[in-house]
Amino acid sequence: MFNPETIKQQFPIFKQKTPLGQDLVYLDNAATCQKPLAVIDRITDFYAKEYGTVGRSSYWPATETTKNYNEVRGKVQRLLNAAHEDEIVFTSGTTDAINKVANSFLRPRLNAGDVVIISEMEHHANLIPWQQICTEKGALLKVIPILDSGELDYEALESLLTNKVKLLAVTGVSNALGIKNDLLRIIKAAKGFEVPVFIDAAQSVAHSEIDVVALHCDFLVFSGHKIYGPTGVGVLFGKRERLREMAPLSYGGGIVKEVTIEAASFQQSPNKHEAGTPNIAGVIGLGAAVDFINEIGYAEISAHTKAITGYALEQLKAMEGIQVIGDVDDRAPVISFVMEGVHAHDLSTFLNEKGICIRAGHHCAQPLMHRLNLMATARISFAIYNTKADIDALIIALKETQAFLS
Ligand SMILES: Cc1ncc(COP(=O)(O)O)c(C=O)c1O
Repeated sequence: MFNPETIKQQFPIFKQKTPLGQDLVYLDNAATCQKPLAVIDRITDFYAKEYGTVGRSSYWPATETTKNYNEVRGKVQRLLNAAHEDEIVFTSGTTDAINKVANSFLRPRLNAGDVVIISEMEHHANLIPWQQICTEKGALLKVIPILDSGELDYEALESLLTNKVKLLAVTGVSNALGIKNDLLRIIKAAKGFEVPVFIDAAQSVAHSEIDVVALHCDFLVFSGHKIYGPTGVGVLFGKRERLREMAPLSYGGGIVKEVTIEAASFQQSPNKHEAGTPNIAGVIGLGAAVDFINEIGYAEISAHTKAITGYALEQLKAMEGIQVIGDVDDRAPVISFVMEGVHAHDLSTFLNEKGICIRAGHHCAQPLMHRLNLMATARISFAIYNTKADIDALIIALKETQAFLS
């Protein structure tokens, strides 16, 4: 039987008290989530017992490490249901993967007058790289607007699509509001104009099953640290033909066939796209995170985070002076809200005094905040280890804050 308390015990951070002596209530999982012992131990074992480089040397432990590193590629392929293992490229995170696709895929294909489409709810990471290249090339960055509910205006998207569009980049889930986008609908519409589609899945992979074949997206990216894995590692899924036609994402050692002073020829992807010594420990740790997710299973993960989100919404909506932002029935485990008369930053500082971690601010989504006429919101976001007791502690602390500050 699934029990979040048992899961929580697998996370060493929850065994200690905060500096003020409280139990830690961690509700900032959309920023980054805590690490289970299985991931920590796997990384420690790698450094302590089997450390070596990858893809270059024929001695143990380098051969063992190369085998383990490549096995993680297979694990991620199966996690995303990608058709081929070589469609998985390791990066240092979502931001890195977006910048690399922007430079290597978009830049050479974009001309003056072309169009790139993003949405109004994008994290800055899935906005600025495209924006900068559009400015440089004299291309247009067009935006799928959101409705007052926070959902994308799908009809507006359909009116933006033409054969001038060279890329559509959209998030699976809004990191600021938890709104889930209908990716099948978006991708189907884009494919009608043969537009390549890039999915920012940074907020999706921890909570719900992804199938890149069913989605039919060209690229999909996420970060290890948001799925119980280490920082400094991420994944770029790219369709085989896309990755093959792209120039290396960066240049250096480990990716070449032949080099002279004048020129270089390159291996095929994924090697072509992983120049230099990669974050080997990060990739090995990511593999342990994928195992951790698989052991629990997406059915349990989604059901639990949905139940916690529902419970939190119910409690928040029952409170006076709290406004939940975004009006949707089904949301990812991310809730943004404002407390009347209390700035979000003051709220988060006050909650920190009680051992409760929440995020306050614009959530790296300033255009979305402008659209909603907000400077900042308080955001709570859940993971597999969060319990109803965490929400109860939050609600008590919110009431105390209200009494004290407003
Ligand atoms: C939707 C979304 N995209 C991109 C990012 C950037 O991820 P990273 O900082 O791991 O590169 C985040 C991080 O919060 C995010 O939520």
